Amino acid sequence: MKKMELLSVLCLVALTACGTPDDNRDTSLKEALKSKFWIGTALNVGHIFQRDPRADLLIKHQFSAIVAENCMKSMYLQPHPGEFFFDEADRFVEYGEKNNMWITGHTLIWHSQAPAWFFVDETGADVSREVLIERMRSHIHTVVGRYKGRIKGWDVVNEAIMEDGSWRKSKFYEIIGEDFIPLAFRFAHEADPEAELYYNDYNEWHAGKRATVTRLVRDMKAAGLRVDGVGMQGHIGMDYPSIEEYQAAIDDYAAAGVKVMVTELDMSALPRPQQGMDGANITDTVAFRAAMNPYTAGLPQDVSDRWNKRMGEVFKLFLDNSDKISRVTLWGVTDGGSWLNNFPMPGRTDYALPFDRNYEAKPVVNDIIKMAKTK
Ligand code: G3I
Repeated sequence: MKKMELLSVLCLVALTACGTPDDNRDTSLKEALKSKFWIGTALNVGHIFQRDPRADLLIKHQFSAIVAENCMKSMYLQPHPGEFFFDEADRFVEYGEKNNMWITGHTLIWHSQAPAWFFVDETGADVSREVLIERMRSHIHTVVGRYKGRIKGWDVVNEAIMEDGSWRKSKFYEIIGEDFIPLAFRFAHEADPEAELYYNDYNEWHAGKRATVTRLVRDMKAAGLRVDGVGMQGHIGMDYPSIEEYQAAIDDYAAAGVKVMVTELDMSALPRPQQGMDGANITDTVAFRAAMNPYTAGLPQDVSDRWNKRMGEVFKLFLDNSDKISRVTLWGVTDGGSWLNNFPMPGRTDYALPFDRNYEAKPVVNDIIKMAKTK
């Protein structure tokens, strides 16, 4: 370890160990929330291989659950037919086991980050329904089977329903039809009967999506399939969704008879490029890029205050619903590593997570710990 890194680690240890009586720095999120829900984070490959000692310390100190941000997606696990690459996923699972963490597998069936070969034959034409079902079966059996008894829950299907409640016209849907979802759950259950199985999606507070997802869950359960939970990703904004909308969605999914999980929580502090602004003339201008990336030198105090307040309100909602919510997972460890620095525009400086670029807890962390103690 380099001298500077060692110094930072020592500082972090000192900071996390020596809280004053009126703060909670000596308490971690995982300690404070242990009787409420798992508190998780998404690990990138650098985290998995422990390349950043400060991040490593933070992950182990604060979190009781992990999910892989990218390395278990099908394009990485099975880049070519029948050729699997498990090096990173194996290390990820070992990391979770060594640190007694709840390990979630993300994700088995997703239209995005699936390898192109999955859907086509050697001539480039779409494969038949039977062939695609067999590829799904083989992929799910191989991956879930490898980690049987070790990965505790799987995002079986990701992002299949649109906000208006219609089905995403993915290759899975076009070639197999609506059946691809129950089939995926059936294959996952065959491969590991003990594993929890989840449907995972974003913006799941939209009424249309809520209606279709709850119907899907109820139908699968009525058909005797194992479905344990709905993962609400939680890529939220400073002004959406409202706490009431969020509450109504949590109630709906819980009423369908499954656990609710917040699986990919983050909250951008940056302006959202609006539809219609993305014409080349506008987005190419230096002025536009600067307007969309206003906080490169740090987050102004008033914006930071609003961010912390809103994130606190969101956690209050989760704590109020801890009888329904089994896990809350942040999508990343610190602001510097958040995918939102590159989405929906590349190269921005966002402030989306409860831990900042210096690995320091933002005020909301202390607020969450206090709330957890009193609820
Ligand atoms: O690994 C390559 C690297 O070799 C290359 O040099 C680099 C250049 O851009 O790209 C790297 O791949 C990137 C990958 O993340 C790993 O960093 C991809 O371009 C990039 O598209 C990919 O983005 C991920 C995205 O899913 C893909 O759709 C984000 O990190 C990840 O946070 C995001 O996660 C998704 C969830 O899985 C599902 N829900 C939404 C969420 C946010 O989009």
